[in-house]
Amino acid sequence: MPEDKINKAAAEAKAKLLSRKILDADYRYYTLANPDIDDYTYDMMMKELQEIEAKFPELKTPDSPTQRVGGSASNEFNAVIHEVPMLSLSNSYDENDLDEFDKRIQNLLKGEKYKYVCELKFDGIAVSLTYSSGSFLQGATRGDGTRGDDITNNLRTIRAIPLRLESKASIEVRGEVFFMLKDFFRINEEQESLGEKKYANPRNTAAGSLKLKDSREVAARKLNMFCYNLRFIDAKEESKQKSHYENLQTLKKLKFPVNDKTKVVNSIAEVKSFCDEIELMRDKLPYEIDGVVVKVDSLEQQKKIGSIAKSPRWAIAYKFKAKQAVTKLKDITLQVGRIGTITPVAELEPVFLAGSTISRATLHNSDEIERKDIRVGDYVKIEKGGDVIPKVVEVVLDKRPRNSKPFEMPDKCPVCKQPLHRPEGEANHYCTNSLCPAQVQGRMEHFVARNAMDIEGLGFQIIEKFIQLGFLKDITDIYLLPKHEKALKSIERFGEKSIDNIIASIERSKERPFDKVLFAIGIRHVGDRTARILAKHFKNIDSIISAGKEEIESIHEIGPRIAESVYDFFHTKANLQMADKLRKAGLKFESEVPAGASNKLEGLTFVVTGSLEKYKREEVEELIESLGGKASSSVSKKTNYLLAGAEAGSKLKKAESLGVKVIDEDEFDKLIK
Ligand code: IVH
Repeated sequence: MPEDKINKAAAEAKAKLLSRKILDADYRYYTLANPDIDDYTYDMMMKELQEIEAKFPELKTPDSPTQRVGGSASNEFNAVIHEVPMLSLSNSYDENDLDEFDKRIQNLLKGEKYKYVCELKFDGIAVSLTYSSGSFLQGATRGDGTRGDDITNNLRTIRAIPLRLESKASIEVRGEVFFMLKDFFRINEEQESLGEKKYANPRNTAAGSLKLKDSREVAARKLNMFCYNLRFIDAKEESKQKSHYENLQTLKKLKFPVNDKTKVVNSIAEVKSFCDEIELMRDKLPYEIDGVVVKVDSLEQQKKIGSIAKSPRWAIAYKFKAKQAVTKLKDITLQVGRIGTITPVAELEPVFLAGSTISRATLHNSDEIERKDIRVGDYVKIEKGGDVIPKVVEVVLDKRPRNSKPFEMPDKCPVCKQPLHRPEGEANHYCTNSLCPAQVQGRMEHFVARNAMDIEGLGFQIIEKFIQLGFLKDITDIYLLPKHEKALKSIERFGEKSIDNIIASIERSKERPFDKVLFAIGIRHVGDRTARILAKHFKNIDSIISAGKEEIESIHEIGPRIAESVYDFFHTKANLQMADKLRKAGLKFESEVPAGASNKLEGLTFVVTGSLEKYKREEVEELIESLGGKASSSVSKKTNYLLAGAEAGSKLKKAESLGVKVIDEDEFDKLIK
C-alpha cells in the first residue's frame, strides 16, 4: 500500500478512537456527573483529534466532538413550528392545590387506578431536539409554544446533547437547558476579571447564551441539559409508547441526560412527601430548581385527561415558596412607561437572593406604598416569586429610623417635569405629555420590537442616541431615517454596515401585515392578540376610525375597556396624524385579501403540517382565515383538508387513517385561486 494511504488509514483509526474516548468522557462528565479523566487529558485528546482532522479534512464528520466548539459567528434564528405545541404547566403553591389536582384526576379517570411521576422543576429554558434516523437534526426554543427559534448550532455545542444516537430512531426530545451553579459562578468570575458587568442569574444567562450569534461563545459557556419528554415521530413507534416513566428510561438508554431524582409514586400523599423532601435539599443541589413537576404516568390516561388552553390537565407544577431577604431601601424613584404609566421603583442596598443580586424592586403604585407604609430609609423584606421582578413584601418596623417620613408621590414627571395625572378610579399616575422623552423612547422600543414591526438593529441604545441627535422625535421619523443615511453613517462609532442593516430592516418592515402595524402603534390595552382580532374584523384602518364604541365592543372577545381605549386613540388628532404619516410611508393599513376570493374557503377546516416551501405556517393560516376558512392545530374527523409540507409526521398519519383529504401547496394554491 502506498505510504500516504497507510498514513490516512492510521489517522482514521486514531480519529475514531479519540472520538469515542471524548464522547465517552463527555457522557460521563455531563450526563452521569461522574468523570473519569482530568481536564488536561481531555484537552490533549481534543487537540490531537483537531490536528488529525486539519490534516485529513475528509475525516471531519458533522458529529465529530470537535464540531462542538461552534462554527461561524453568524447564527440566524429562523422560525421553527412545533409539530406538537410546547405547552406550559399550571401552578400550585400548597397542599390544598395538590389535593384539588388529584381530585380532578380521580374524577376524570372515573375510578381507574393511576400513578404519578414526580420530577424536579428545573429553572432553565425549555428546548426541543429533533433526531432523524438517529442524527441530531434541529433544535429549537419554546417561543410562544407554537413557533420557536431555530438554535441548532448553539445546541450542538452542549456536550450533554448526543449528536448521534446508538439507534436509528426518529424522535423529538424536550427538556430544559440550564447552567450548573459552578459554571454560572465561573462565568461571572470571568466577567469580573474582564471588568464587565456580572450576569443577574443562571436562568437568564442560559436564555441569553442560547441566543448568542456566535456559537463558539456558547460552547465556552458550558451549558447543560436535563431531558423530560420523548416522542417517537413515527406513528407506529409512537403507538408502542406506554408510560412517561418508561419514556424517561428509554431516553436514559439513548444516553440523554435524565435527572435521577425522578420518582414514580402511587398517591398524592407520596407526591407531597416528595415535594417536602426536595424542598429541603433544594439549596444543596448543584443547579437551581423552582419546584416539582407532577405528571400522570400512563400516556393513555394523559390522553384521556387532555389539555385546556395552554396547559395539560394531567400535570401540575408545585412551586416552592418564594425566597426572601431583608435589605435597606435607599430611595424611591419613578419609572415612566411608553404610555406614560408611572411605576415607583425601590432602589435597594444590593442583596443576594436566590441566585441573583437585587438592587431594584417594583412598588407598583402609590396606593401600594401607602398601604404598606413604605418609607425611604426603611429595612424592607423583599421576595422573588414566580416572576423575575422582585417585590417588596413588607417593612421591618423594628428597624425603622426615628425621623422617617411617609412617602409622598411627586406631582411632576421625573423626566419631562410636566404634571402627573391620576384618572378617577385608577391606581396609576400617568405622565400625560405624549412628547415626554421617556414615553417617546418607550413607544419606539415597542414599535420596533420583534412581535411588532420587527426592525432589527434599532436597539435601546441606538434609539436613545438617535433621539439625542434629533433624528427621531416620534415613531414616524423611523421611516425618514433612510433619507439621513449619509449623516447616520458619519456618526462616530457607527459602522456603515450596521446603518445599512437598519435601513434594510426599515424597508422590510413595510411588508408587515396590518395587525402587526395595529399592535405596533401602541394603543393602550391592545396586545398582539387583540390587534389580530381588530384587524380581522375591520379589515382596514378607516373602518376602525369610523367605528363607534358600541360597534367595537360588540366584537367577540373585546370588552368595554379595550373598546374605549381604541375609540379614544382614534379620536385624538395627533394619533390620526401619526397613522396618516405611516400610511404615506408605505405601511400596511388594510388586511390583505386576494382579490375576488374573499369567502372561498368558507366552512372549510384546514390543518397545516410539515415544512412548506412557499409560505410560512403563520402566513398560510392567516390566509386561510382571511378567506373565511378555519385553521386548526389538530386533525379530527371534522378536518376537511390537511395541507402537508415536507417531513409531515403524525398528523399526516392521522389524517390518512381518518380519510381526511391531504393536499400539497400547489393543490392549495389551486383551491384558493
Ligand atoms: S414538562 C406539558 N417537566 O416548566 C408539560 N417542564 O411551565 C410541560 N420545566 O416550559 C413541560 N422542569 O420550561 C416539564 N421536569 C419538567 C420541567 C419543566 C422545568 C419548565 C419548562 C416548561 C415550564 C412549564
